[in-house]
Order: sequence, then C-alpha cells, then structure tokens
Amino acid sequence: MKLPKRVTICEVGTRDGFQIEPEFIPTDQKIDVVNRLASAGMPRIEVTSFVSPKAIPQLRDAAEVMAAIIRRPGTTYSALVPNDKGAVRAVDARVDEIHTVVSASESHNLANVNMTIAESLTKLGAVAEVARRAGVPVVSGISCSFGCPFEGDVPLAHLESVVARLVDLGARGIGLADTTGMANPAQVGRALERLVPRFPGVEWTLHTHDTRAMAIPNILAAMEYGVTHFDASIGGLGGCPFAPGASGNVCTEDLIHCLHAMGVETGVDLDALIETAKRVQAIVGRGLPGQLVKAGKWDRRYPLPDGVRDRIPARS
Ligand code: COA
Ligand code: ZN
Repeated sequence: MKLPKRVTICEVGTRDGFQIEPEFIPTDQKIDVVNRLASAGMPRIEVTSFVSPKAIPQLRDAAEVMAAIIRRPGTTYSALVPNDKGAVRAVDARVDEIHTVVSASESHNLANVNMTIAESLTKLGAVAEVARRAGVPVVSGISCSFGCPFEGDVPLAHLESVVARLVDLGARGIGLADTTGMANPAQVGRALERLVPRFPGVEWTLHTHDTRAMAIPNILAAMEYGVTHFDASIGGLGGCPFAPGASGNVCTEDLIHCLHAMGVETGVDLDALIETAKRVQAIVGRGLPGQLVKAGKWDRRYPLPDGVRDRIPARS
C-alpha cells in the first residue's frame, strides 16, 4: 500500500454533526466540544456554519460559538458558508478559513441551498471577493461528488466542470464530499486519477459519510492517489438534513486509530479524542456509531479464562 507519513484531519462534528441534532445543543456545550477537540491536537476544526437560521436552526449561535472558543495556536478554525452574507458573517467572526458549499447535483443543490448550481457559483464568486478582501483562504466543498440521492450517478465530466469553476474563483483547496455514502473505493480512485493531474496545486480533501460502511475504504483509496486531507466527525456524528438517507461522517477516533495503527501520523492525541467522543455521547444523549469507544484500541488485552494459561504450549 502507498501510505503517506502524515495526514491532516479536519474535525467537522460540531458543524456536519450538530446541524442535524433534533434538540438544540446549548452554546456553552458546543464551545466545550470545540475546545476539547483543539486540546486533543486537532489541526483543523470546521466549527459551525453561517447559513440561514431558518434552514439550520441548530447552528443559529455560530457567531457566539466563534467568539468564545479558545484559539489554540496550531489549529485552523473554519466555518461553512453558502453565500456572501455568510462569508461576511464568518469574516466578522474571525474564521481562519472559509469553507463553501455547492453540490455537483442540481436537485441536491436546490434542496440544500435553494439555488441552481449556476446561481450558487455566482454567489460563491461574491464569497471569493469577500474572502480575498479579508485575506481569508477558501476551501470549496462539493456535495454529492460521487452520487446524488435524488439523481443517482454524477458524471465525472460534470464534477470536473464544477471543480474548474471553483478553482477559477481562487479556491485553495477542493473538498470532494460523498454526502450520502454512495462512493466506492474504485470510483474514488477513478475520480482522483482524472482530477489530481488536471488541477495541480489544489489541496484535495475527501469528505466521507459512512452510510454504507465504505468511508475508511474510500479514504485508503484516496491516499493511494496522494490525498492527505480528510474530514471526519467525532463519534461518527453527522448528516445533511436536505439529503435523504444521509447519516454520520466517518468517525474521527475510528479513522485516527486506523491511521495510527498503520503508522500514519496525525498529531492528534487519540486517548483525549476518545474522552471527547464520550462527552459528545453524553451531550446528545445517545450512543454514537463510533466503534473504538466500545471496543477500545487494538492493543486492548483481556485476562485469560481460568485454566487456559497452564495449557498454552511453549513456543519452539
Ligand atoms: N446567514 C444568515 N442569514 C441568511 C444567510 C446567511 N448566510 N443567507 C440568507 N440569510 C437570510 C436572509 O437574510 C433572509 O432573511 P429574512 O427572511 O429575515 O429576510 C433569509 O435568510 C432568506 O434569504 P434568501 O437569500 O432568500 O435565501 P433562501 O431562503 O433562498 O435560502 C440559503 C438560501 C442558502 C440561505 C439557505 O438555503 C441556507 O442557509 N442553506 C444552508 C443549508 C445547509 O447548511 N445545509 C447543510 C450543509 S451542506
Ligand atoms: Zn457532510
């Protein structure tokens, strides 16, 4: 396997995860989770989104959260925005990076942001202008990059044309998002084989949802093509309220455990992350999909059953 020495994880649980929670999570608890993630050494955190509070009431406290978090040197704090109004709010809140959203599928884009793809790209032009004036870099995410829950297949040529427009607008990075877990590793490989050489200098991120248990296999495939940036969500929280069937992102602690077990560095303290995942479970009041919190790390050992030790043959 072709493995990088180090990858960068962006934690999206407080945005992609909290946005879909049915009960409003109090602002101080959101702040606490962000601070714990940063203390665990998370290099990037997508803290919240600056979207219409009617669309996502759960994140209506975005400005308060951004104002109160402790900014740890070494962590990049970003927020998701769909339009220039969101970009102005995000810049006012002193984000380090703006993450934009547009879908590769017309139906999902209309359902999510009430715009056609062309209308969204016009708005994202205005976002780019706000960001440029403020000196804030932009990373552009593309929802439904590998398939749409309404339309099915998203042709690669179409995805490529959306990437080209976003790169023209000055995006420093492109996030390919598998919003409802439709991608498979071979497909991820085909997409990257075509896109990576066509857009040199772009920092690629793979944003996965584990809806069909293909998130980590897809990440392994992306690493084969040189991708070293991945979004993940603490506990495996997550889902888009405007994409039917969407469920949680790849679970951060499960992914980091897998990477560390293979010798790939992340700079994140896994034990601190596991504690944070437990805290998040307490906040949302239920167990989350993450496996590591239940199973423990790979080096967990159990006591031998009675009478077994004496019967183990000596190694020759
Ligand atoms: N932040 C705060 N308020 C915003 C906003 C933003 N970024 N963008 C628009 N609004 C407000 C407008 O001021 C207006 O308020 P009013 O009703 O009090 O006058 C209202 O929202 C409607 O604005 P309009 O421009 O007509 O937007 P819309 O109703 O067509 O909705 C979006 C478009 C993009 C604002 C909305 O669909 C949205 O926020 N979607 C986000 C979806 C999301 O986050 N999905 C999950 C992540 S992938
Ligand atoms: Zn997502």
